[in-house]
Amino acid sequence: MRHLIDFGDLSRAEWDSLYHRCSEIMDHPADFLDACKGRVMASLFYEPSTRTNFSFQTAMLRVGGTVFGFADPRSSSVAKGETLKDTVKMVSGYADVVVMRNPLEGAAKAASLYSNVPVINAGDGGHMHPTQTTADLTTITRLRGGVDGLSVGLCGDLKNGRTVHSLIKAMAKFQGVKFFLISPRELAVPEYMRAFMRENGMWFTEVTGLESVIPSLDVLYMTRIQRERFVDPLEYERNKGVYILTRRKLERARRDLLVMHPLPRVDEISIDVDDDPRAVYFEQARYGMFARMALLTDLANQPRMDPGAVEIGTVPVCRNPRCVTQAEHYLPPLVKQNGGLTCCAYCDAALE
Ligand code: NCD
Repeated sequence: MRHLIDFGDLSRAEWDSLYHRCSEIMDHPADFLDACKGRVMASLFYEPSTRTNFSFQTAMLRVGGTVFGFADPRSSSVAKGETLKDTVKMVSGYADVVVMRNPLEGAAKAASLYSNVPVINAGDGGHMHPTQTTADLTTITRLRGGVDGLSVGLCGDLKNGRTVHSLIKAMAKFQGVKFFLISPRELAVPEYMRAFMRENGMWFTEVTGLESVIPSLDVLYMTRIQRERFVDPLEYERNKGVYILTRRKLERARRDLLVMHPLPRVDEISIDVDDDPRAVYFEQARYGMFARMALLTDLANQPRMDPGAVEIGTVPVCRNPRCVTQAEHYLPPLVKQNGGLTCCAYCDAALE
Protein backbone atom coordinates (compact mmCIF):
# COMPACT_ATOMS: atom_id res chain seq x y z
CA MET A 1 0.00 0.00 0.00
CA ARG A 2 1.37 3.42 -0.94
CA HIS A 3 -1.62 5.73 -0.28
CA LEU A 4 -4.90 5.12 1.55
CA ILE A 5 -7.57 6.76 -0.58
CA ASP A 6 -10.31 4.14 -0.63
CA PHE A 7 -10.60 1.05 1.58
CA GLY A 8 -10.63 -0.95 -1.66
CA ASP A 9 -6.91 -0.07 -1.89
CA LEU A 10 -6.24 -2.49 0.95
CA SER A 11 -6.19 -6.25 0.40
CA ARG A 12 -7.60 -8.50 3.12
CA ALA A 13 -4.05 -9.55 4.00
CA GLU A 14 -3.01 -5.89 4.35
CA TRP A 15 -5.97 -5.19 6.63
CA ASP A 16 -5.19 -8.29 8.74
CA SER A 17 -1.60 -7.16 9.16
CA LEU A 18 -2.70 -3.59 9.99
CA TYR A 19 -5.09 -4.94 12.61
CA HIS A 20 -2.36 -7.15 14.00
CA ARG A 21 -0.10 -4.09 14.36
CA CYS A 22 -2.97 -2.16 15.92
CA SER A 23 -3.54 -4.92 18.52
CA GLU A 24 0.15 -4.92 19.39
CA ILE A 25 0.01 -1.16 19.87
CA MET A 26 -3.08 -1.42 22.10
CA ASP A 27 -1.51 -4.20 24.19
CA HIS A 28 2.07 -2.84 24.31
CA PRO A 29 2.00 0.92 23.59
CA ALA A 30 5.44 1.43 25.16
CA ASP A 31 7.04 -0.64 22.35
CA PHE A 32 5.93 1.91 19.75
CA LEU A 33 6.95 5.21 21.33
CA ASP A 34 9.66 5.76 18.71
CA ALA A 35 8.04 4.00 15.75
CA CYS A 36 7.76 7.29 13.83
CA LYS A 37 10.65 9.12 15.48
CA GLY A 38 11.90 11.92 13.21
CA ARG A 39 8.87 11.61 10.93
CA VAL A 40 6.59 14.54 10.19
CA MET A 41 2.89 14.40 9.37
CA ALA A 42 1.13 17.16 7.40
CA SER A 43 -2.50 17.56 8.33
CA LEU A 44 -4.52 19.47 5.71
CA PHE A 45 -8.11 19.92 6.86
CA TYR A 46 -10.20 21.90 4.38
CA GLU A 47 -13.37 20.93 6.25
CA PRO A 48 -14.36 20.87 9.95
CA SER A 49 -13.25 17.92 12.04
CA THR A 50 -12.78 17.08 15.69
CA ARG A 51 -12.18 13.35 16.04
CA THR A 52 -10.34 12.63 12.81
CA ASN A 53 -8.02 15.62 13.13
CA PHE A 54 -7.32 15.11 16.84
CA SER A 55 -6.97 11.36 16.58
CA PHE A 56 -4.48 11.64 13.71
CA GLN A 57 -2.49 14.23 15.62
CA THR A 58 -2.46 12.30 18.88
CA ALA A 59 -1.72 9.08 16.97
CA MET A 60 1.40 10.63 15.40
CA LEU A 61 2.55 12.11 18.73
CA ARG A 62 2.09 8.77 20.50
CA VAL A 63 4.38 6.98 18.02
CA GLY A 64 7.07 9.65 18.37
CA GLY A 65 6.42 11.78 15.27
CA THR A 66 5.52 15.44 14.89
CA VAL A 67 2.69 17.25 13.17
CA PHE A 68 2.02 20.49 11.28
CA GLY A 69 -0.83 21.74 9.12
CA PHE A 70 -4.05 23.70 9.08
CA ALA A 71 -7.55 23.02 10.34
CA ASP A 72 -9.03 25.95 8.46
CA PRO A 73 -8.04 26.57 4.83
CA ARG A 74 -8.71 30.32 5.26
CA SER A 75 -5.42 30.45 7.14
CA SER A 76 -3.44 28.94 4.20
CA SER A 77 -2.61 29.93 0.61
CA VAL A 78 -5.72 28.08 -0.51
CA ALA A 79 -7.46 31.35 0.37
CA LYS A 80 -5.24 33.07 -2.26
CA GLY A 81 -6.43 30.67 -4.95
CA GLU A 82 -3.66 28.06 -4.86
CA THR A 83 -4.50 24.82 -6.65
CA LEU A 84 -4.68 21.52 -4.80
CA LYS A 85 -1.78 20.30 -6.93
CA ASP A 86 0.54 23.12 -5.87
CA THR A 87 -0.38 22.83 -2.19
CA VAL A 88 0.24 19.09 -2.19
CA LYS A 89 3.49 19.24 -4.19
CA MET A 90 4.87 21.78 -1.77
CA VAL A 91 3.62 20.14 1.43
CA SER A 92 4.89 16.73 0.32
CA GLY A 93 8.32 18.34 0.16
CA TYR A 94 8.12 19.14 3.87
CA ALA A 95 6.35 16.06 5.27
CA ASP A 96 6.71 12.26 5.28
CA VAL A 97 2.96 11.65 5.10
CA VAL A 98 0.00 13.86 4.17
CA VAL A 99 -3.40 13.50 5.83
CA MET A 100 -6.12 15.37 3.96
CA ARG A 101 -9.80 16.13 4.45
CA ASN A 102 -11.56 18.03 1.68
CA PRO A 103 -15.19 18.76 0.78
CA LEU A 104 -14.64 17.75 -2.87
CA GLU A 105 -15.20 14.11 -3.80
CA GLY A 106 -12.03 12.52 -5.14
CA ALA A 107 -9.76 15.24 -3.70
CA ALA A 108 -7.44 12.79 -1.93
CA LYS A 109 -7.10 10.70 -5.09
CA ALA A 110 -6.23 13.89 -7.00
CA ALA A 111 -3.65 14.85 -4.36
CA SER A 112 -2.02 11.42 -4.53
CA LEU A 113 -1.16 11.97 -8.22
CA TYR A 114 1.24 14.77 -7.30
CA SER A 115 2.59 13.75 -3.89
CA ASN A 116 6.09 12.45 -3.22
CA VAL A 117 4.88 10.88 0.05
CA PRO A 118 1.85 8.76 0.98
CA VAL A 119 -1.52 10.53 1.07
CA ILE A 120 -4.20 9.45 3.52
CA ASN A 121 -7.83 10.32 2.77
CA ALA A 122 -9.36 11.68 5.97
CA GLY A 123 -12.73 12.23 4.22
CA ASP A 124 -13.50 13.53 0.70
CA GLY A 125 -16.94 15.13 0.62
CA GLY A 126 -19.75 12.60 0.75
CA HIS A 127 -17.59 9.96 -0.93
CA MET A 128 -15.18 7.96 1.28
CA HIS A 129 -13.56 7.97 4.72
CA PRO A 130 -11.33 4.88 4.89
CA THR A 131 -9.58 5.64 8.18
CA GLN A 132 -12.94 5.84 9.96
CA THR A 133 -13.39 2.31 8.62
CA THR A 134 -10.14 1.22 10.25
CA ALA A 135 -11.65 2.53 13.52
CA ASP A 136 -14.92 0.70 12.85
CA LEU A 137 -13.32 -2.64 11.95
CA THR A 138 -10.96 -2.42 14.92
CA THR A 139 -13.94 -1.85 17.23
CA ILE A 140 -15.90 -4.79 15.83
CA THR A 141 -12.92 -7.14 15.75
CA ARG A 142 -11.73 -6.23 19.22
CA LEU A 143 -15.17 -6.48 20.82
CA ARG A 144 -16.65 -9.37 18.80
CA GLY A 145 -13.57 -11.33 17.76
CA GLY A 146 -14.20 -10.92 14.02
CA VAL A 147 -16.34 -9.50 11.27
CA ASP A 148 -17.30 -12.57 9.20
CA GLY A 149 -20.96 -13.56 9.26
CA LEU A 150 -22.29 -10.48 11.06
CA SER A 151 -25.61 -8.78 10.34
CA VAL A 152 -24.92 -5.06 10.13
CA GLY A 153 -27.57 -2.32 10.11
CA LEU A 154 -26.47 0.98 8.57
CA CYS A 155 -28.94 3.68 9.47
CA GLY A 156 -29.43 7.34 8.51
CA ASP A 157 -27.98 9.33 5.62
CA LEU A 158 -26.59 6.55 3.46
CA LYS A 159 -26.43 8.82 0.42
CA ASN A 160 -24.04 11.43 1.80
CA GLY A 161 -22.48 9.45 4.65
CA ARG A 162 -18.91 8.72 3.54
CA THR A 163 -18.23 6.50 6.55
CA VAL A 164 -20.98 4.17 5.34
CA HIS A 165 -19.55 3.95 1.83
CA SER A 166 -16.09 3.07 3.10
CA LEU A 167 -17.45 0.52 5.55
CA ILE A 168 -19.41 -1.25 2.80
CA LYS A 169 -16.27 -1.33 0.64
CA ALA A 170 -14.35 -2.89 3.51
CA MET A 171 -16.98 -5.51 4.28
CA ALA A 172 -16.53 -6.98 0.80
CA LYS A 173 -13.28 -8.43 2.16
CA PHE A 174 -15.11 -10.55 4.74
CA GLN A 175 -17.33 -13.62 4.41
CA GLY A 176 -21.10 -13.75 4.85
CA VAL A 177 -21.76 -10.20 6.06
CA LYS A 178 -25.42 -9.15 5.71
CA PHE A 179 -26.35 -5.49 5.30
CA PHE A 180 -29.63 -3.92 6.37
CA LEU A 181 -29.55 -0.48 4.76
CA ILE A 182 -31.98 1.71 6.71
CA SER A 183 -32.68 5.15 5.24
CA PRO A 184 -35.40 7.39 3.85
CA ARG A 185 -35.76 6.69 0.12
CA GLU A 186 -34.17 10.00 -0.87
CA LEU A 187 -31.12 9.27 1.29
CA ALA A 188 -30.46 5.72 0.07
CA VAL A 189 -26.94 4.61 -0.93
CA PRO A 190 -25.63 5.97 -4.26
CA GLU A 191 -25.95 3.76 -7.32
CA TYR A 192 -22.18 3.16 -7.45
CA MET A 193 -22.38 1.53 -4.01
CA ARG A 194 -25.27 -0.68 -5.10
CA ALA A 195 -23.28 -1.69 -8.20
CA PHE A 196 -20.29 -2.45 -5.96
CA MET A 197 -22.33 -4.68 -3.63
CA ARG A 198 -23.88 -6.56 -6.55
CA GLU A 199 -20.55 -7.05 -8.25
CA ASN A 200 -19.09 -8.46 -5.05
CA GLY A 201 -22.06 -10.75 -4.38
CA MET A 202 -22.85 -9.02 -1.06
CA TRP A 203 -26.17 -9.68 0.69
CA PHE A 204 -28.13 -6.47 1.30
CA THR A 205 -31.66 -5.24 1.78
CA GLU A 206 -32.90 -1.63 1.73
CA VAL A 207 -35.61 -0.64 4.21
CA THR A 208 -37.04 2.59 5.59
CA GLY A 209 -37.97 1.41 9.11
CA LEU A 210 -35.47 0.95 11.93
CA GLU A 211 -37.51 -0.79 14.62
CA SER A 212 -38.53 -3.83 12.60
CA VAL A 213 -34.92 -4.81 11.78
CA ILE A 214 -33.27 -4.07 15.15
CA PRO A 215 -33.83 -7.62 16.53
CA SER A 216 -31.89 -9.14 13.58
CA LEU A 217 -28.72 -7.10 14.04
CA ASP A 218 -25.27 -7.79 15.49
CA VAL A 219 -24.11 -4.25 14.74
CA LEU A 220 -26.22 -1.10 14.43
CA TYR A 221 -24.21 1.71 12.82
CA MET A 222 -26.07 4.99 13.25
CA THR A 223 -25.15 8.07 11.19
CA ARG A 224 -25.91 11.77 11.20
CA ILE A 225 -28.04 13.35 8.48
CA GLN A 226 -25.24 15.23 6.68
CA ARG A 227 -26.71 18.72 6.69
CA GLU A 228 -23.70 20.36 4.96
CA ARG A 229 -24.12 18.14 1.87
CA PHE A 230 -27.70 19.16 1.08
CA VAL A 231 -28.13 21.48 -1.89
CA ASP A 232 -31.84 21.91 -1.05
CA PRO A 233 -32.38 22.99 2.60
CA LEU A 234 -35.96 21.68 2.43
CA GLU A 235 -34.65 18.20 1.74
CA TYR A 236 -32.66 18.43 4.97
CA GLU A 237 -35.70 19.71 6.88
CA ARG A 238 -37.77 16.76 5.57
CA ASN A 239 -35.21 14.22 6.74
CA LYS A 240 -33.72 15.57 9.95
CA GLY A 241 -34.70 13.68 13.07
CA VAL A 242 -36.09 10.81 11.02
CA TYR A 243 -34.31 8.12 13.05
CA ILE A 244 -33.81 8.44 16.77
CA LEU A 245 -32.45 5.44 18.63
CA THR A 246 -33.77 5.35 22.18
CA ARG A 247 -33.36 3.02 25.12
CA ARG A 248 -36.90 1.77 24.53
CA LYS A 249 -36.16 0.84 20.90
CA LEU A 250 -33.18 -1.19 22.09
CA GLU A 251 -35.36 -3.40 24.28
CA ARG A 252 -35.92 -5.85 21.43
CA ALA A 253 -32.28 -5.85 20.31
CA ARG A 254 -29.75 -8.63 20.97
CA ARG A 255 -27.94 -8.45 24.26
CA ASP A 256 -24.59 -8.46 22.49
CA LEU A 257 -25.51 -5.86 19.86
CA LEU A 258 -22.87 -3.20 19.16
CA VAL A 259 -24.34 0.28 18.76
CA MET A 260 -21.79 2.28 16.77
CA HIS A 261 -21.62 5.83 15.40
CA PRO A 262 -18.68 7.64 13.74
CA LEU A 263 -19.73 10.80 15.67
CA PRO A 264 -20.53 13.65 15.87
CA ARG A 265 -24.10 12.79 16.79
CA VAL A 266 -26.89 15.31 16.52
CA ASP A 267 -30.10 13.69 17.76
CA GLU A 268 -30.05 10.25 16.14
CA ILE A 269 -29.01 8.50 19.35
CA SER A 270 -30.72 9.75 22.45
CA ILE A 271 -28.49 10.40 25.45
CA ASP A 272 -30.22 7.73 27.51
CA VAL A 273 -28.54 5.11 25.27
CA ASP A 274 -25.02 6.20 26.30
CA ASP A 275 -25.00 4.17 29.50
CA ASP A 276 -26.26 1.00 27.84
CA PRO A 277 -23.32 -1.46 27.67
CA ARG A 278 -24.12 -2.01 24.00
CA ALA A 279 -23.30 1.62 23.16
CA VAL A 280 -19.65 1.59 22.06
CA TYR A 281 -19.31 4.83 20.07
CA PHE A 282 -16.94 6.57 22.46
CA GLU A 283 -14.72 3.47 22.62
CA GLN A 284 -14.91 3.39 18.82
CA ALA A 285 -13.40 6.90 18.67
CA ARG A 286 -10.51 5.75 20.88
CA TYR A 287 -9.95 2.62 18.78
CA GLY A 288 -9.69 5.01 15.84
CA MET A 289 -6.60 6.58 17.36
CA PHE A 290 -4.89 3.18 17.73
CA ALA A 291 -5.83 2.21 14.17
CA ARG A 292 -4.28 5.49 12.92
CA MET A 293 -1.14 4.81 14.96
CA ALA A 294 -0.81 1.47 13.16
CA LEU A 295 -1.39 3.12 9.79
CA LEU A 296 1.15 5.87 10.40
CA THR A 297 3.89 3.48 11.54
CA ASP A 298 3.60 1.98 8.07
CA LEU A 299 2.94 4.94 5.77
CA ALA A 300 5.06 7.63 7.47
CA ASN A 301 8.10 5.35 7.21
CA GLN A 302 7.97 4.79 3.47
CA PRO A 303 10.68 6.17 1.20
CA ARG A 304 9.94 9.30 -0.84
CA MET A 305 8.99 8.59 -4.43
CA ASP A 306 8.71 10.84 -7.46
CA PRO A 307 5.13 10.45 -8.72
CA GLY A 308 6.28 11.14 -12.31
CA ALA A 309 4.66 13.32 -14.95
CA VAL A 310 0.86 13.48 -14.95
CA GLU A 311 -1.21 14.12 -18.09
CA ILE A 312 -2.79 17.59 -18.10
CA GLY A 313 -6.56 17.59 -18.44
CA THR A 314 -8.64 20.31 -20.08
CA VAL A 315 -12.37 19.70 -19.51
CA PRO A 316 -13.90 17.51 -16.79
CA VAL A 317 -15.52 14.28 -18.03
CA CYS A 318 -17.42 13.81 -14.78
CA ARG A 319 -20.73 15.66 -14.31
CA ASN A 320 -20.93 15.28 -10.52
CA PRO A 321 -20.90 18.93 -9.33
CA ARG A 322 -19.10 17.87 -6.15
CA CYS A 323 -16.30 16.04 -7.99
CA VAL A 324 -12.80 17.47 -7.58
CA THR A 325 -12.41 17.54 -11.38
CA GLN A 326 -15.08 20.28 -11.52
CA ALA A 327 -12.85 22.59 -9.50
CA GLU A 328 -9.32 21.51 -10.54
CA HIS A 329 -9.45 21.47 -14.33
CA TYR A 330 -5.86 20.34 -14.94
CA LEU A 331 -6.62 16.86 -13.53
CA PRO A 332 -6.29 14.01 -16.05
CA PRO A 333 -9.67 12.51 -17.10
CA LEU A 334 -9.35 9.14 -15.34
CA VAL A 335 -12.12 6.52 -15.52
CA LYS A 336 -12.62 3.05 -14.07
CA GLN A 337 -15.09 0.15 -14.28
CA ASN A 338 -17.38 -0.61 -11.35
CA GLY A 339 -20.06 -3.31 -11.53
CA GLY A 340 -20.33 -2.92 -15.33
CA LEU A 341 -20.58 0.89 -15.13
CA THR A 342 -17.94 3.30 -16.43
CA CYS A 343 -17.25 5.61 -13.50
CA CYS A 344 -15.14 8.62 -12.65
CA ALA A 345 -11.94 7.33 -11.04
CA TYR A 346 -11.94 10.24 -8.57
CA CYS A 347 -15.51 10.33 -7.18
CA ASP A 348 -16.98 7.03 -8.51
CA ALA A 349 -20.01 8.75 -10.13
CA ALA A 350 -21.28 6.86 -13.18
CA LEU A 351 -20.41 8.61 -16.47
CA GLU A 352 -23.18 8.72 -19.06
C1 NCD B 1 -17.72 11.52 10.18
C2 NCD B 1 -17.28 12.29 8.95
O1 NCD B 1 -16.60 13.29 9.06
O2 NCD B 1 -17.63 11.82 7.87
N1 NCD B 1 -17.07 11.94 11.34
C3 NCD B 1 -15.88 11.40 11.65
O3 NCD B 1 -14.92 11.47 10.90
N2 NCD B 1 -15.78 10.69 12.77
C4 NCD B 1 -19.18 11.44 10.32
C5 NCD B 1 -20.01 12.69 10.28
O4 NCD B 1 -19.49 13.80 10.14
O5 NCD B 1 -21.22 12.55 10.38
